[in-house]
Amino acid sequence: MFTTKFGKSGAVWLLSKETVLVIQISMLADVLRDDQFAIEQRFIIMFYCDDLFDHSVTGTMNYSRFLTAVSAARKPSPIRILTELQQRSPPTLISLAGGAPNPSTFPFQSVIITLKNGGSIKFDEASMNRALQYSGSYGIPELISWMKDLQRALHSPPTVAYAAEKGRMEMCVTTGSQEGLCKVFEMLINPGDNVLLDAPTYSGTLAALQPLGCNIINIASDHHGMIPEALRRVLSRWDPAEVRRPGSTVPRVLYTIPNGGNPTGASLTAERKREIYQLAREYDLLIVEDDPYYFLQFQKPWAPTFLSMDVDGRIIRMDSFSKILSSGLRIGFMTGPQTLVERVVLHIQASTMHTSTFTQLMVSKLLQDWGQDGFLRHVDSVVEFYRKQRDAMISSADRWLKDVAEWHTPTAGMFLWIKLKGISDTQKLIMEKALEKEVLLVPGGVFNIDSSLPCPYVRAAFSLSTPQQIDEAFKRLSALIKESL
Ligand SMILES: Cc1ncc(COP(=O)(O)O)c(C=O)c1O
Repeated sequence: MFTTKFGKSGAVWLLSKETVLVIQISMLADVLRDDQFAIEQRFIIMFYCDDLFDHSVTGTMNYSRFLTAVSAARKPSPIRILTELQQRSPPTLISLAGGAPNPSTFPFQSVIITLKNGGSIKFDEASMNRALQYSGSYGIPELISWMKDLQRALHSPPTVAYAAEKGRMEMCVTTGSQEGLCKVFEMLINPGDNVLLDAPTYSGTLAALQPLGCNIINIASDHHGMIPEALRRVLSRWDPAEVRRPGSTVPRVLYTIPNGGNPTGASLTAERKREIYQLAREYDLLIVEDDPYYFLQFQKPWAPTFLSMDVDGRIIRMDSFSKILSSGLRIGFMTGPQTLVERVVLHIQASTMHTSTFTQLMVSKLLQDWGQDGFLRHVDSVVEFYRKQRDAMISSADRWLKDVAEWHTPTAGMFLWIKLKGISDTQKLIMEKALEKEVLLVPGGVFNIDSSLPCPYVRAAFSLSTPQQIDEAFKRLSALIKESL
């Protein structure tokens, strides 16, 4: 049986019940010229394919269903492709391609960065030339490869061995996870789309999401994060059968911060993650797992991640080095299905081109030197620091705030989320009176979808101040609350 009709974006062949071949339209001509392929055509049933990765045909994720028109329209920059090629070529390659400037004209000669452990990172003239030059948009190969090894070791993502079209795990470097988040939302969210998240949430996420004109639906949460039953209730407004109907309003994206939430300090339990993942399967949702506090978990073993459960290729995970290596270097990572990572990389190509080669090399040299064990030892020492800070904040809260506030002890991150008793909105209290008393916290309302609604919470960070300063701050806050009651 032979049916020949192609879709706009490509075609799907069913080679056998088990083997599916998905070809993008750009590659079609080459494939059809291939002799080997021509022979195999005898065994091929060709399917109509208006939708490149149609679930019903291939049994894989239909990623095109999730893309905005802007993202779907992004095309690789021919010059950037050459840069990637050059990056992977032997030094004997003579390239007259590209428009890279000549680094001999740059004023910087060499750099030695002294490490706190007494070691150093050296940039001689050759590595300096590389550090100061354009590089590929996915990130420098050795950093990406180091990070892929780390993801495999920490999360064993099921998608590592998948075929590309089935959602094979891919990674790219982003200029902080904020860049990744912003580009992921631009890739997935149209005006009017229903988007799920558990507010109060990171204000940077709201800042990236709200201008897209989407309808943010709040899923109730507690100190263990998003409540799966609440998610189920919200989703029950729709029939899972509607999901792929054109024009369906079923949400396609769920965002959450699984560990040490900003601002709540909440961490999802493994059980909740499994339930949420299951619901995501039922309703074909993508989950954006924004996890910059993953490495700041105070208990071991660390919680299993959504990425570790991702049998479908529906997780987009954002990691960040901001909390463990440096926030100013701006190094983050996106991990997800190749099809989606590629879309974000095309956006990077068209905007920043790549994260600073210098900072990538600096971090990469450090990581190569440390190895995974050295990196994880460093993470342990950072965790120890924040655990002590957290404990100091909790004991100061116990000392000064017991009668006037309530909180849950966070098991990760750097924030304590404090509910002030008898105060309906903390905005005025913090922005006016607290400043007079020389203590500053973040009024909780800024983390809500509608920041104008009254909110009785404040966020206190235990990252920067000394235990003595934290104690004094809570003493002042306690006096302030008592005066306001
Ligand atoms: C939940 C959350 N996501 C993302 C970010 C952005 O981090 P980065 O410095 O990696 O851009 C932050 C920063 O505080 C955050 O709290």
